[in-house]
Amino acid sequence: MSRIKLFKELFGNISTTGAITFSSKPLVDKMLSFADFKGAKVLVELGGGDGSITKGIVERMDKDAKLLVFEISRNFCNNLEKMFPQKNVVIICDSAENMDKYLNGDKADFILSSLPFSLIPKDIRASIYRKSRESVSEKGKFIQICYSYLLKYQFADYFSHIKTSFTLKNFPPAFILICN
Ligand SMILES: C[S@@+](CC[C@H](N)C(=O)[O-])C[C@H]1O[C@@H](n2cnc3c(N)ncnc32)[C@H](O)[C@@H]1O
Repeated sequence: MSRIKLFKELFGNISTTGAITFSSKPLVDKMLSFADFKGAKVLVELGGGDGSITKGIVERMDKDAKLLVFEISRNFCNNLEKMFPQKNVVIICDSAENMDKYLNGDKADFILSSLPFSLIPKDIRASIYRKSRESVSEKGKFIQICYSYLLKYQFADYFSHIKTSFTLKNFPPAFILICN
């Protein structure tokens, strides 16, 4: 999928994509610096989009680790399947609220999310928060990129420790919430 088509998909579905551009490489690098991929075997990404975060995860993950990528746009999913044909990267064209069905009782070492929570209906949002907390392993982390610090207060109902980071090297500047 060309860059122009990716942006058309992003803008054409702004009510569900919730972004004016994709995550920059410095933002992805910073987000992923909070996850220790060595030894991590089950990874989950929420909101695969153009694959910018997926690519960063794939570059870092162990060869025998598995990555489940949730994305609701069929066009983005088709593109992600072409970009990541390896067997241990599973593109799931379904909402993140159904993550438990695909994890089959496994716990994720890391859940890496760029979901636009401010645009997701309250009940679905709550379900994703709850399932993320239940699906992440005891030593694992849920890591979210977002444009509003206020999201931290919603996460506080589900996670007891939340560390925040920030980068100007993205448009718009972004926060990273590291939760466990
Ligand atoms: C802000 S974009 C992020 C795209 C890319 N990961 C990045 O960082 O640039 C959010 C993505 O989440 C997807 N999305 C929105 N709601 C979702 C849901 N409930 N489950 C899975 N994906 C969802 C959108 O289609 C969009 O591709």
